Amino acid sequence: MSQTPHADPALRVSFLRTEYLVNPLGLDAERPRLSWRLDADGRGAVQTAWQILVASSEDALTARDGDLWDSGIVESAETAQVPYGGRAVAPRQRAWWAVRVWDGNGIASAWSDPAFWERGFGALTDWQGNWIGLPGIAPDASIPEAAELDALLPVSYFRQAFAVAGEVVRARLTVTARGVYEARLNGAKVGDQVLAPGWTDYDRRIQVQTFDVTAAIVAGENAIGAMVATGWYAGYVGFEPGARHYGTVPQLLAQLEIELADGTRQVIATDGAWRASAGPIRYSDFLMGEYHDARLDTPGWDAPGFDDRAWGGVQVHNRNAVPLVGDSSEPVRTLDEIAPIARTQPEPGTWIFDLGQNIAGWARLKATGPAGTTIRLRFAEILNPDGTLYITNLRSARATDTFILAGTGEEVFEPHFSWHGFRYVEVTGYPGEPGVEAVTAVFVGSDTRQVGSFTCSDELVNQLQRNIVWGQRDNFLSIPTDCPQRDERLGWLGDAQVFVGTAVGNMDVAAFFTKWMQDVVDAQSEAGVFPDVAPRLVDLAEGAPAWADCGVIVPWTIWQTYGDTAIIQRHWPAMERYLDWLVTTNPNLLWQQGRHNDFGDWLSIAADTDKELIGTAYMAYDARLMAEMAEAIGREHEAGRYRRLHEDIAAAFCAAYVREDGTIAGETQTAYVLALHVHLLPVDLRPIAAKHLVDDIAAKGDHLSTGFVGVSYLCHVLTAHGYPEVAYRLLHQTTFPSWKYSILHGATTIWERWDGWTEEKGFQDPGMNSFNHYSLGSVGEWLRRRVAGIDNAPGETGFRHLRIAPVLDDSLAWAEGTYESIRGLIRSRWERSADGLTLAVTVPANVTAEVVLPGAALDMVREGGVPVAEADGVTGAWDEEGNTIVTVGSGDYAFTAA
Ligand code: BGC
Repeated sequence: MSQTPHADPALRVSFLRTEYLVNPLGLDAERPRLSWRLDADGRGAVQTAWQILVASSEDALTARDGDLWDSGIVESAETAQVPYGGRAVAPRQRAWWAVRVWDGNGIASAWSDPAFWERGFGALTDWQGNWIGLPGIAPDASIPEAAELDALLPVSYFRQAFAVAGEVVRARLTVTARGVYEARLNGAKVGDQVLAPGWTDYDRRIQVQTFDVTAAIVAGENAIGAMVATGWYAGYVGFEPGARHYGTVPQLLAQLEIELADGTRQVIATDGAWRASAGPIRYSDFLMGEYHDARLDTPGWDAPGFDDRAWGGVQVHNRNAVPLVGDSSEPVRTLDEIAPIARTQPEPGTWIFDLGQNIAGWARLKATGPAGTTIRLRFAEILNPDGTLYITNLRSARATDTFILAGTGEEVFEPHFSWHGFRYVEVTGYPGEPGVEAVTAVFVGSDTRQVGSFTCSDELVNQLQRNIVWGQRDNFLSIPTDCPQRDERLGWLGDAQVFVGTAVGNMDVAAFFTKWMQDVVDAQSEAGVFPDVAPRLVDLAEGAPAWADCGVIVPWTIWQTYGDTAIIQRHWPAMERYLDWLVTTNPNLLWQQGRHNDFGDWLSIAADTDKELIGTAYMAYDARLMAEMAEAIGREHEAGRYRRLHEDIAAAFCAAYVREDGTIAGETQTAYVLALHVHLLPVDLRPIAAKHLVDDIAAKGDHLSTGFVGVSYLCHVLTAHGYPEVAYRLLHQTTFPSWKYSILHGATTIWERWDGWTEEKGFQDPGMNSFNHYSLGSVGEWLRRRVAGIDNAPGETGFRHLRIAPVLDDSLAWAEGTYESIRGLIRSRWERSADGLTLAVTVPANVTAEVVLPGAALDMVREGGVPVAEADGVTGAWDEEGNTIVTVGSGDYAFTAA
């Protein structure tokens, strides 16, 4: 135990969040969950109680008058997911809140800075307007590609002028589209989102955004406008010829509510009085690109005083019963700008700009030239050997932006409702020679906060980590898409489930996956089967093994990561229905019936794992996770039932596929990985199976053969069963197939397939060859949890009690991981030198950790230069395996072991 009493660290409270979001507007939740972060200097800080005040005004909060809720002092260490317990907050009302906490000595912190949430206006009946569309909207026959691809509709423009009779004290615009929209007020864009309202199944629910537009509205004349394009609703998404998945006419629904100083309320809602027109954007489609003829621009169309006599009326489409729900996750935004690193001219007049990074987004183009000059931009991830664009792998996605100059001097273009996946931008038709500054790449995605990092002494592994993070950032756009470049961009459940454990370590994806899990449940079939893709597109089937199971794995992972049991509660019935379907359809507990698209260990390399075996392993995995989740929400009876189900499936699995010598049918790496990861083997067979796995890797020359499914647990299983050095060998492998092979051949993202390009064969079949798929990057979870060693302690969730246990290897001199958990920043950095091992650890306030110093005898371990026994706030012990395990509270620690 500590010899010197540690200083008494005062707690500071910050980063207040409501339902994972900072100061959200338009929130639906009536009892939102509140979270905060604690900081403290010194060691061993704990929270013993909290008090939350919620007030109906900022003034009341400042006066410490919790007129909506004064929780009183609640003895609790909890800092996350505390449910609001006060009076009902009315639709449109803003609730201000602050929190203070007490430390281990009963000393109160200062009150936090104020935060708020504001409710949306709720029920469908509160909407006063209707959907409006452009009457007679049809492809522009003068543009050949629009005539040919008949979902390439002109962008619809809507406007409404209105007068405001006095000083505005509050104004909110609540808006959405069947399609994608950009809202405008008095000549300026509203908010900073792009591609709103985001993707949901538009037949099941449509998200709405709420903006505070108080400052944008003036006394006197005003105008509101919006541009609406086809987007996910009516444009091209998914495979050829996939368009018009939900409807044919893009439509706008908006309600602007204004309150004046004299108490008057004014509502402007989309209705038959609005004006509409097509405009300069002759089409703007996700897959096909944008066509913008600037000669047709009508500046001022979104401002008062515009002469809209040439515009027509709107077509009013009645509202149906589809719920309109407040947007509950981070919006899609432009996240960064990237300047090209090189410009080439492979053919006269064809300019290619290289960004040095494969991204999702678009290019901003600057040009000066005569009116009518047509400049064309095309996009690719890769170049042909002759330096021209390789676009065959885009399939039917034309990914072509066309800009026609108005001849007004320097003109700047960027598409509004299209995005591409690319590293290279080809420019043709440019007037003269474009300077390298003519093109800027704009990176676009869901604005999830970066929370993790991983670095180490091996530069190729660092590049792998960067590729994993880019793969995530490029593909998390409203939903977890599979790839940003070709005609697909679907929310494949298999991809998402293998990667979610990695994703949570890179970005704060709590709200993102909470939203998408609703899409998954919306797509569950009548029979109870989760789908292959969510939102489910018409032609895609019920889910296959390892795809459908995402519906159980995602809630489990969100609970593990954020301590969030609400996601389990909310989806428990859906998950139970799925398990019931599985077991009823396969009463012998082998997944033989209903494997639907049956993808197997998708894109494995020369190793076909039996698909029934994969399914059965996943069925057992589901049962195990269900048992854990049942316990977390107090369903003891179900927990027991699912535990027995897991055992029964394991027995069926062994009887069907496992031989006495510990070999498993098919003898593939994935078969062994699944059997071990899912705990399907009796204890005595586990080391034998692990040895078979290791032997197979060795027989393949230290190569993996796993696809999407097997690779996600491969390194974990090797590490857990005593072969970390084999996992490291796979990590460092540079010959095909391996992660480093792609990096040595120029990858800046994770490739869809191990053999996307090989020295022997060149490019894989362009029918399915993306260079920006995140799935095979699922090794990121192992880097964080095992190499850096940042993890929950066994049986714990939400990073309340940590286990920092890095797994060292001679191949790395040092490694460092950081992770800003829901309870604060965790850091683990180890380094080996001739003098021994150093391990620097940061534990957030109010969190405890057991820190494992591998292979170090307790009497050789020092912290801050003194023996563990003398160190402040540190308790040490030695385990049977010869490691030192110390227990610490919050703070920074510097361990050394000679
Ligand atoms: C997608 C995947 C997906 C797979 C299903 C592909 O077209 O890009 O990532 O999981 O189909 O087999």
